[in-house]
Amino acid sequence: MDDDNDIFIREFELESRKVTLTLYQKEVGEVSCVVWDASLVLAKYLDVLCRDDRLGKDWLLNKKVLELGAGLGCVGMTAACLGAEVVLTDLANVLPALNKNIEMNKHHWKNCGGSAKAQELAWSKDAVIDFKPDIVVLADCVYYTESIEPLLNTLERLCGATSNTYALLSQEERDTPNQKPVWSQFVDAIKKRFKITPVMLAEQHPTYSSHDIRLLKLTLPSQN
Ligand SMILES: C[S@@+](CC[C@H](N)C(=O)[O-])C[C@H]1O[C@@H](n2cnc3c(N)ncnc32)[C@H](O)[C@@H]1O
Repeated sequence: MDDDNDIFIREFELESRKVTLTLYQKEVGEVSCVVWDASLVLAKYLDVLCRDDRLGKDWLLNKKVLELGAGLGCVGMTAACLGAEVVLTDLANVLPALNKNIEMNKHHWKNCGGSAKAQELAWSKDAVIDFKPDIVVLADCVYYTESIEPLLNTLERLCGATSNTYALLSQEERDTPNQKPVWSQFVDAIKKRFKITPVMLAEQHPTYSSHDIRLLKLTLPSQN
């Protein structure tokens, strides 16, 4: 984000904390330069869970959360505001914009016990990170065929970090000739390696949810 001329801002409110994140996006750039709707849906779902009596308002406090393909970091920063220790990951070229967003919002999680830092992590079968997440989050990361296998390998490895680690994946299902087959290939592949529990629309935020955005909980078959 060296040239700040084409920056535009989106404000994103976390209802459980009375916090408004400021998301710095760019008019021109790669797919990571804007916040995608699947991110907003997943971030709002984390916030909605604070109203679930079985979990409680502090359900993410002290949890370790890792975000894959974080982009501008909406989901990871939301988790930090809810008290989690968060590592937001993406490709190296995305880190300047991600770091800017973390820097501009860090006052929101300073006093609640949360933390957020960005780290490079490219999906691959050998992707290694010195962090054992309780929860892996990812939004709108399924959009090209070549990434499916490396992404699944990375997810599988991270979900094996502890005996209870699980992933929350949010994805807009696009009906275009390019994107439709990517999602169905991904679903076919993931079914073979993970137990999939869909999060129903009724469980999600009433406004920040959509019929074409899938929200899935993924666990390894060996886990509960
Ligand atoms: C469509 S963007 C979504 C960004 C953000 N999660 C959101 O929903 O706003 C996809 C993200 O995946 C990242 N990505 C794509 N291929 C990747 C790879 N092989 N390894 C790591 N990250 C990758 C991109 O850099 C980008 O930030």
